[in-house]
Amino acid sequence: MGVVVVAAGSGTRLGADRPKAFVELAGVTILEHALRGVLASRPGEVVVVVPQAFVDEARSIVACLDLADARAEVVPGGAERSESVSAGLAVLSDHVDRVLVHDAARCLTPVGVFERVLAALAAGAVGAVPGVAVIDTVKVIDAGGLIVDTPLRESLRAVQTPQGFVRGILTAAHAAGAAATDDAALVEALGHDVLVVEGDHRALKVTTPDDLARAERLLTDRWSALP
Ligand code: CTP
Ligand code: MG
Repeated sequence: MGVVVVAAGSGTRLGADRPKAFVELAGVTILEHALRGVLASRPGEVVVVVPQAFVDEARSIVACLDLADARAEVVPGGAERSESVSAGLAVLSDHVDRVLVHDAARCLTPVGVFERVLAALAAGAVGAVPGVAVIDTVKVIDAGGLIVDTPLRESLRAVQTPQGFVRGILTAAHAAGAAATDDAALVEALGHDVLVVEGDHRALKVTTPDDLARAERLLTDRWSALP
C-alpha cells in the first residue's frame, strides 16, 4: 500500500508566512504530525508532495522520522491539488496496487481512520473514503441564492481523507482530468462505486487560524489523556 500525502498548498486562508504544512502546531510542523499518523498505518511507500521551494525542508523532516520499512520520496507539487496528487501517484513503485491520498492539513487524523479505509479496500471496495454525519441542514441553491433542494440530512456525509482507491482506477480518474474538490469525485465520475466509512472529527482540515487553535486543543486533550 502506498500513501500520497499532499502538502503543496500555499495555505492562503491560514495566512502564515510559509506554506501551511510547514507551520508549527505545538512545536512540530503540520507535515510532521501528518506523517506520524500516516506511518502508524504501516504503508509500504509514502510520497510527500510539497512546494518546490520546500523539497529540501521536507526531506529533512522525513529523514528524522521512523519510517520502519517504508520507502519515502519527496516531490514538488502543482498549482492545483489534483496536480499535486498526480505528481505523487507518478512516483509510486509499479507494484503498489492500493493507494491512499491524504491531506497533510488533516494532520491529526487518528490511525483508526486509516485502518477503516484500508479494511474497506481489503474487503474489495475499489474506493473508500471517511465521512462524518452533517450537523447543519444543507441547502442546494441557484445562482440567485434561491433554495432549489433540501437533501435529506441522514443521507449526507462530510468527507475527509485519507481516501483510498485501487491505484489504476485513481490514476485513470486523474488522467480523465475533470475538476473536483476531492479524489472520490473523480473516481465517481468514471462510474465506480466509492464506499463511505466512518470518519472522525479529529481528522479536521486545518484551514483557518481558528482551526489551528482547535487542533492545538485536540493535541492538549490527547496528551492529558495519557496515563
Ligand atoms: N494541496 C496541494 N497542492 C495544491 C493545493 C493543495 O498539495 N496545489 C494540498 C494542501 O497542502 C493540503 C490539501 O491539499 O494539505 C488540502 O488543501 P487546502 O486545505 O485547500 O490547503 P491550501 O491550498 O494550502 O490552503 P488554501 O486553499 O487556504 O490556500
Ligand atoms: Mg486550497
